[in-house]
Amino acid sequence: MKPYVICLMLTSPDGSLHPSRWTKSPDGSRADWSALYEQVHKQLGGDSWMVGRVTMAEISKATAHPPTGLSEAKRPHHFARRDAASYAIALDRSGKLHFSSGELYGDHVVVLLGSDASDSHLAELAGDGVSYIVSETAEIDVGAMLDLLGTELGIKRILLEGGANVNGSLMAAGLVDEMSLVVAPALEARDGSDRIVAYGEEGLAGKVELSLLACEPLSHGAVHLRYSVHKAG
Ligand SMILES: NC(=O)c1ccc[n+]([C@@H]2O[C@H](COP(=O)([O-])OP(=O)(O)OC[C@H]3O[C@@H](n4cnc5c(N)ncnc54)[C@H](OP(=O)(O)O)[C@@H]3O)[C@@H](O)[C@H]2O)c1
Repeated sequence: MKPYVICLMLTSPDGSLHPSRWTKSPDGSRADWSALYEQVHKQLGGDSWMVGRVTMAEISKATAHPPTGLSEAKRPHHFARRDAASYAIALDRSGKLHFSSGELYGDHVVVLLGSDASDSHLAELAGDGVSYIVSETAEIDVGAMLDLLGTELGIKRILLEGGANVNGSLMAAGLVDEMSLVVAPALEARDGSDRIVAYGEEGLAGKVELSLLACEPLSHGAVHLRYSVHKAG
């Protein structure tokens, strides 16, 4: 069964996802809003978090290296662990991400790959203790992968935490159930700045609809907005 997917982002009212570029506020600081984001992350009770390839590359700074230890390149999947309390999941179509171990922030790493990922890359991941699933097609069938994460690893609730492109692609595919935003009292307002959700030139009009679930004031001038996300009727 597909896990419940909540897209969780810290943002400004103008949709910026880079707090280092935000205006200041007398209500609070970037550190205060980041702490609120972490608090909401815990409250939402996910048993895993998921990010796109670009965001994961900023978290795991490892570079390519020869496989160590276990170096088999099993397809379509390899699970180094099935008993983790929480999982860190990355979407990496062509196998660009590298890891120095199978754990990030104490969560077990699972990489979702397209069929073009090379055997040597799979062997590197397995050797590092990382779990992975390879899609049958070059483009990742994220819906099928989410089902597998549910059936194979028992994952029930995923916090989808950016960036904009992975958020947009899962929304367009109808795979996001809820959107949860911690909105800080700050603005970026630069031309061409990144947004919290992006879906190319096409956008998401006609694909999804949001409906307000809750609006809760937080401390430091922030608010927590929750929307249910539906396929457009
Ligand atoms: N403030 C915050 O809360 C926050 C949170 C997260 C991220 N960020 C920021 O966001 C920026 C990165 O965002 P981004 O939008 O550029 O990148 P991203 O969403 O992190 O990663 C996008 C990449 O993920 C892969 N991907 C996404 N959807 C896919 C799909 N359906 N199937 C297969 N692969 C898929 C693709 O990799 P390939 O190109 O390899 O195909 C795509 O280019 C970073 O600067 C990061 O710091 C901020």
